[in-house]
Amino acid sequence: MSLLPPAARKIVPNRVRDDVRLRALSVGLGVIPPRAMHSEEEAALLVSLARAARRIVEIGVYEGGSAVEIARHMPRDGELHLIDPFGKQPGALPRDWAGTEWATKRTVARAAKGGPTIVWHAQFSQDAAVGWSTPIDLLFIDGDHLEPGVRRDWDDWHDHVVPGGHVAFHDSREHKPHGRGLPGPTAVVDALFREGTTAGWTIAHEVDRTTVVRRDA
Ligand SMILES: C[S@@+](CC[C@H](N)C(=O)[O-])C[C@H]1O[C@@H](n2cnc3c(N)ncnc32)[C@H](O)[C@@H]1O
Repeated sequence: MSLLPPAARKIVPNRVRDDVRLRALSVGLGVIPPRAMHSEEEAALLVSLARAARRIVEIGVYEGGSAVEIARHMPRDGELHLIDPFGKQPGALPRDWAGTEWATKRTVARAAKGGPTIVWHAQFSQDAAVGWSTPIDLLFIDGDHLEPGVRRDWDDWHDHVVPGGHVAFHDSREHKPHGRGLPGPTAVVDALFREGTTAGWTIAHEVDRTTVVRRDA
C-alpha cells in the first residue's frame, strides 16, 4: 500500500526518484512503496517458501521490498531476522543508492503488524554471524553481491539451516536460461551447485534471478 498512485510515480524524474533522503521520507511515511528488487515470479517463490518457514533470516534488506512480502505471508507466530548495515554499500547497490534504517524499519513494521516478530540486526552479516546458534528454516542471501561476500555468507550461515530448509540466492542466474543476475552470486552458485556439488544440498528452484537450494531432510 502507498499513498502516491503508480501513474504519478512514473513521471518523477530519476534524479528525484533516486535521492536517498527524499526516498527515505517517502518510503518511511508510506507515500511510495519500497523499491521492488524482485519480479512477480520471484515474489511468488519467496512467499511460498516463507509460508512454510517459522524462522527466516534475510541478509540485505535495503528498503524492505522482499522483507515486506515475507512478513505479510510467513506464519504469524514466526520470527523474521533482518540484517543490513544500511547506508551506501558499493558491493551491493548501484552508486548513490542507500537504504535508510529508520525508513525501512517503519515500512517493515507496518507490514508485520499483527504478524511475525521482527528482529533487527543493523550490522554486516559477517558480524551478525558471530555467535549465531539459532536454527533457520529459510535463509535469503541478498547482501554483499561480490563473489567473496556471497561465498562468505554461504560459509558463515548455511550450517544453521535445518534439514529440509532452504537457502535462496538472489541475482544468481546471470546468462542462465530465462535468467538474470550478477557475476558474484552466479559464480558462487555455479561453483557450489551447478558445476560442483555440495554434499547434502540440491537445487530446488530456479526462477528469474533467484536460485533456491534445499538441505536434504
Ligand atoms: C540488493 S539490496 C537488498 C534488496 C532486498 N533484499 C530486497 O529484495 O528488497 C542489498 C542490501 O545489502 C546490504 N548489504 C551490503 N553488504 C552487506 C553485508 N555484508 N551484510 C548485510 N547486508 C549487506 C546493503 O546495505 C543493501 O541494502
